[in-house]
Amino acid sequence: MINKAKLGVLVSGRGSNLQSIIDNIEKGKLNAEIAIVISDVKDAYALERARKHNIGTCFVSPKDFKARSRFFDEIAKNLEDNNVEYVILAGFMRIIPLSLINAYKNKMLNIHPALLPSFPGLGVQKKALEYGVKYSGCTVHFVDKGCDTGPIVLQAVVPVLEDDTEETLSQRILKEEHRIYPEAIDLVINGKVKIVGRKVIRK
Ligand code: GAR
Repeated sequence: MINKAKLGVLVSGRGSNLQSIIDNIEKGKLNAEIAIVISDVKDAYALERARKHNIGTCFVSPKDFKARSRFFDEIAKNLEDNNVEYVILAGFMRIIPLSLINAYKNKMLNIHPALLPSFPGLGVQKKALEYGVKYSGCTVHFVDKGCDTGPIVLQAVVPVLEDDTEETLSQRILKEEHRIYPEAIDLVINGKVKIVGRKVIRK
């Protein structure tokens, strides 16, 4: 049995993407282990989900640190202490500083609920609806120093329907997120892809 990749999952909220990663690991579809789930929100439901599966959790309060860099130093320390090899951003609503990105170069992934490079940032399902696009979707990408600009590992497309609300579109996208995030993690941790310039290529 090849060693399991050690993941550190960063969350801020509901944790449905975390749950899909846990489920895929438990079903034996993803040869990984979640070493720690770190949240910047004390009562994030994601922490509860982790505890239910006996996964270690940690809450790092931004209020405890005057400087943003110190807050992220604490997160980095928790990742190191748990021997994390890959950082998985799963609804973590903060911009990652360069120091942490460099510490996990090409080993940090994010899921974004839009078809990048369209609609980076926050509240993007609403923005896509308001813009009137006919298709949206989700993107798993490596994290680089820009906002949602890193090389794209996988994307999935969903139609935008005329009677969609932010909620219905978000749900349709979320279903695809739960499918492609574990798949993208599998590709990366098993070295099945390489990064060439901006492109992520299957080996
Ligand atoms: C997901 O839709 C994810 O793509 C999005 O937050 C949601 C988290 O849901 N992430 C971002 O917008 C990152 N900028 P979850 O907590 O149920 O996984």
